[in-house]
Amino acid sequence: MSTTGAGLEDVVATTSSICDLDGKLGKLTYFGVDIHDLAQHSSFEETAYLLWHGKLPTRAQLEEVQDQFIKQRPLPGRLVDIMRLLPTTTTPMDVLRTSVSALAAFDPDLNDKSEAANQQRTLRLTAVLPTIVASWENIRNGKDLVIPLNDSNHATNFLYMLTGKMPDEYVAHVLDVALILHADHELNASTFAARVSAGTKADMYASVTAAISALSGPLHGGANEQVIRMLLRIGEPAHAEAYIHDALERKERVMGFGHRVYRTDDPRATHLRAMSEELGKRNNDTRWYEISRIVEKYMKEHKGLYANVDFYSASVYYSLDVPIDLDTPIFASSRTAGWTAHILEQYANNRLIRPRADYTGPKVTEYVALNKRG
Ligand code: COA
Repeated sequence: MSTTGAGLEDVVATTSSICDLDGKLGKLTYFGVDIHDLAQHSSFEETAYLLWHGKLPTRAQLEEVQDQFIKQRPLPGRLVDIMRLLPTTTTPMDVLRTSVSALAAFDPDLNDKSEAANQQRTLRLTAVLPTIVASWENIRNGKDLVIPLNDSNHATNFLYMLTGKMPDEYVAHVLDVALILHADHELNASTFAARVSAGTKADMYASVTAAISALSGPLHGGANEQVIRMLLRIGEPAHAEAYIHDALERKERVMGFGHRVYRTDDPRATHLRAMSEELGKRNNDTRWYEISRIVEKYMKEHKGLYANVDFYSASVYYSLDVPIDLDTPIFASSRTAGWTAHILEQYANNRLIRPRADYTGPKVTEYVALNKRG
């Protein structure tokens, strides 16, 4: 048995035709379509369709998927009752994990494991996650729930449910692009967790629940939240260099930097950086963008590390007035499209995922009776 490096670095654990990622060139494609083209020309709904079906939709298919997104937005009333039972201090990621797990109980066809039924679930889960996130925001603040719109796109509706008012066009466009950029990323930790769960033939709700758990940690999706907290602590562009210098001296990790695969610019950061700057200008507050640029320059010069997707998404979401602890749930809402695509792929060609461990403990240990142990 050969032992792999820690963290399964560079281990190729499966084949997949969904997402191609070249860490040296900084290239990312979904079924061969360049992420830059998707960011510039696509919509989240279209990108989700691409991930689930392996090709871009025709106009009729796109209209159908948009329609389905709208139909699947409302939450089962009893799921809202469950959410209301949670302490209002529960983190939104914990609420999301609990709610997605509970959604299985409201699926009338849970035993239908056909591909068609699972295709329906990919859509239902992806459409409904923003409703869970926005509903929790209202529940914990003692506000009425916002009824999802029945005529707007996914990003517009998400912002509308979060804020209770219609976002302006540019703001909705920014969220749409951010959702596209986060939708899939090969075998990242949460997608791997989803595939391991699906590999046991656990249902789609269980597998997405596993993925949400893996995403919540600060080394993965939880990083964006930590980034904005850091930018707020830095406070002013003039303090940025000294802050990062001291953090690195203390051997701290600077969140939003480094990546297991990319050794160059993360192509997703390119778009988020530009949107962070533009939002700053529109809001007459470029502070968070300016601090980010200084931190980015310092990290590249002193550590050779590049900003990852979480770095600029932090200031983007902050400029959209999104409460900080919703950053990671927004990431999850987008990545559900990718998770569910990978779960479908796993089901279609499944073999239980069960690696081995290289045992390093003692070979033989005598069992000593309890009353004789020191
Ligand atoms: N800040 C400071 N140093 C960092 C760093 C960061 N964000 N990311 C990596 N490094 C350093 C490590 O200290 C290590 O240095 P060393 O060899 O001198 O000990 C080296 O770079 C390699 O790091 P390692 O943790 O082995 O890389 P990894 O591939 O296991 O980890 C991440 C990848 C993403 C977990 C890691 O870069 C990180 O913790 N980043 C911050 C969290 C984050 O932004 N996560 C979102 C990822 S999209």
